Amino acid sequence: MSHQEPSGITFESISPAEFFYRNRQMAGFGNPTQAVYSTVRELVENSLDSCEDARVYPLVDIDIQNLESEMITVKVSDNGAGVPSDQVPLAFGRVLYGSKYSQQQKRGTFGLGVTMAVLYGQITTDSPVTIHTRTNDSKGVLFRLFVDVENNLPLVQDNEEFQRDNVGTTVTIKLKGDMKRAQERIIEYLRLSTVSTPHAKITLKIDDESHLEIGGWSNTLPPPIRPSKPHPRSIDMEVLRRLVKRHGKKSLDDFLCDSFQKIGLKTSARFLRFMNFNPSKVMSEFTRDELSRLAHALRKYDGFEQPDSKCLSPIGKSDFLNAITSVFNVKMAEYASRGVSEWQGNPFVIEAVIATGDDFPQSDIPYLYRFANRVPLLYDSSDGVLTRVLKKIEWSRYSTSQSGPVAIFIHLCSTKIPFKAAGKQSLATIPEIEHYTFQVIKELGRKLGKVNDRSRRSARELKKMREFSKSLRQIARFSTSLANLDEIPPTDDLVKRLFEVDSNE
Ligand SMILES: Nc1ncnc2c1ncn2[C@@H]1O[C@H](COP(=O)(O)OP(=O)(O)OP(=O)(O)O)[C@@H](O)[C@H]1O
Ligand SMILES: [Mg+2]
Repeated sequence: MSHQEPSGITFESISPAEFFYRNRQMAGFGNPTQAVYSTVRELVENSLDSCEDARVYPLVDIDIQNLESEMITVKVSDNGAGVPSDQVPLAFGRVLYGSKYSQQQKRGTFGLGVTMAVLYGQITTDSPVTIHTRTNDSKGVLFRLFVDVENNLPLVQDNEEFQRDNVGTTVTIKLKGDMKRAQERIIEYLRLSTVSTPHAKITLKIDDESHLEIGGWSNTLPPPIRPSKPHPRSIDMEVLRRLVKRHGKKSLDDFLCDSFQKIGLKTSARFLRFMNFNPSKVMSEFTRDELSRLAHALRKYDGFEQPDSKCLSPIGKSDFLNAITSVFNVKMAEYASRGVSEWQGNPFVIEAVIATGDDFPQSDIPYLYRFANRVPLLYDSSDGVLTRVLKKIEWSRYSTSQSGPVAIFIHLCSTKIPFKAAGKQSLATIPEIEHYTFQVIKELGRKLGKVNDRSRRSARELKKMREFSKSLRQIARFSTSLANLDEIPPTDDLVKRLFEVDSNE
């Protein structure tokens, strides 16, 4: 809708779909190479999230076909929970619509990814997206739809019952894309996806030829993730106002206990006493100023426990190490983690692995592989907090030069990932995250330093042992001839025993 002022200036508002249509580079759809990569990434991400919802071992198949004049189709199939038929149009045809806005770790964040891919497909090839999906209580439905950009609504072309053998979803998008340039990145992304989701199996076919069959490194499903209530320290006026709208009839103390995690009767009584609030005042009677004071007090009070971690799903030590050694040729690998901690009331865990091996690029500082909520981040690596921390560390202290190529795999999981842009590639600098990343990486540096020290020491010992045993053999030969004996006594055992004693000291 537009409005012209007498001055001749026109004011208008645009829909979210129109905004992302105009600014598609912000969401990772800036050029044909990035667009193919982002399409695969968004579809795979959704598939893995859905398999997690269904609590199944993910089987994700990607099938890419090169067509004429740089057109391609990307088809991604999964065995996830499927999409209820009444939700398909909005989930795939409306920007900022989704099922992942709750307080729990999810790969998806914005309700934007797949619709951006659909939008990019339709503006570059004028083709609709095809969605074939089946949930537990349906036989299967097939939709073809466009996005009505001006109104941010789906434009459904076809909608029919269509049998699908298994529960899950298949999405097919035709788009203009440079597959030749994107292929290497896509393969790296999929390989790394099996590092961060080790129980998933992923296949990639390009023009009917198999390019990758990877994964299945772990035989255990991660524990279920449970959404949690907001932590009091994460509250701002907007959230508080909405909670009050929902629970206006409750007294303040009931409201606190029911609406937030980590507030029980005792904690609420302590908080209210300390802040001098009346526990029995009914929420709907609070003035705007009083609510503002309450929001401020909730954020500042330091008597609340750390946020809940049941809403998080770190990879874990054995799965992380096992997946890395399955995907890469690794000489040694060590794990460290920090958390659960919080940033602005959002719980987070940082876990990382340091590994050496010839598969990694050689450089003065370790090569960094970044992951957020189990998603590999491949673009904009120089830009984020994780890279900044890595560069701050004085790596020469840990004798990295003698290890050969070194890599660090770092995974941040949180109910909220502080992405710098809608393309979800690099992380903003949050002091708490920066601090714990620094600690984890330093711990890994020390572990690597110890391994290097040990191998330097054992190389020195070996050299000493060789020299010693040479001299001892000479002494034995000399003493044998002095004593006029024929047989030279063996000395190897003696040397070994001597060095065993030495190294145990
Ligand atoms: N393969 C799938 N299986 C089940 N549900 C899906 C699938 N793909 C998409 N969805 C549903 O469609 C919604 C919209 O997906 P979309 O990728 O646009 O957003 P998102 O994943 O919520 O967040 P993000 O913008 O970060 O990707 C999802 O929240 C999910 O509910
Ligand atoms: Mg998504």
